[in-house]
Amino acid sequence: LRHFLDIQGLPRALLTDILDTADSFRGIGDAQVKKVPLLRGRTVVNLFFENSTRTRATFELAAKRLSADVLNLDIGTSSSSKGETLRDTLFNLEAMQADAFVVRHSDSGAAHFIASQVTPHVAIINAGDGRHAHPTQAMLDMLTIRRHKGEFSNLKVAIVGDILHSRVARSQVHALKTLGAGEVRLVAPLTLLPSQVDAMGCRVFTNLRQGLKDVDVVIMLRLQKERMDGALLPSEGEFYRYYGLTRETLAYARPDAVVMHPGPMNRGVEIESAVADGPQSLIMDQVTNGIAVRMAVLSMAVSGQTQKGAA
Ligand code: CP
Repeated sequence: LRHFLDIQGLPRALLTDILDTADSFRGIGDAQVKKVPLLRGRTVVNLFFENSTRTRATFELAAKRLSADVLNLDIGTSSSSKGETLRDTLFNLEAMQADAFVVRHSDSGAAHFIASQVTPHVAIINAGDGRHAHPTQAMLDMLTIRRHKGEFSNLKVAIVGDILHSRVARSQVHALKTLGAGEVRLVAPLTLLPSQVDAMGCRVFTNLRQGLKDVDVVIMLRLQKERMDGALLPSEGEFYRYYGLTRETLAYARPDAVVMHPGPMNRGVEIESAVADGPQSLIMDQVTNGIAVRMAVLSMAVSGQTQKGAA
């Protein structure tokens, strides 16, 4: 693994290797084993040009549990505000012997651009770019599904909500299809589906109850207002009435279906609190698995090492 920019185009064997490596890291950080030395002497720089709670915090914890030094650049107080270009910011951080940049940016393609600018020894990890991709989120979702449901080929998975603006949905679809999921469904109003939705190779539903019928996994997405123009913004009350996951609508899925959400959640908009906090919810497991997946990606990209050996 060199950079980790997108799921699209990656082979199934590599995705499986990331999941297996992440599984082997899951115990690190508990009372018995606080850290492993895989990235001792290496420096990981978090470059978040867009807000984050889960991704930024779990990348920092992941790097620290691999014994790396971590620099969280505060973009708001950096010299970007004095007119320094992104390229100059990158070159200065490279000159501080950074080994990896973890990048979140509101522009689709930003991580690819940064990868084209830095010297080859610096690994670029995409932590979410515009509405394009969020590959580590998709991999932590795959780890969560695999740990609870096993083989992907037996599973029907429904992704529900604002597909149009979601980088998470795009990366999840690529990951699920590459890992051989039995059926991937997209459930949304027409206004929140991409015009090229047919090219995504999924079954499309505009009716929530039909879309949830007999699925094994329900993944809810929030309305991504920051990427909408005002005209596209549906009323939250109306969205909840037709697309909200409640105890009543969840009953259309299989009785043992699991509920997931990448966060941040908007309770009472796309999901009822009783479902988000209920017995079928894996939402906090997703967060915990994020540390292990990000440890796997960082160790494979920066040192070429997994827990088992060379990646
Ligand atoms: N899922 C996710 O990317 O959450 P954050 O925006 O809090 O990082």
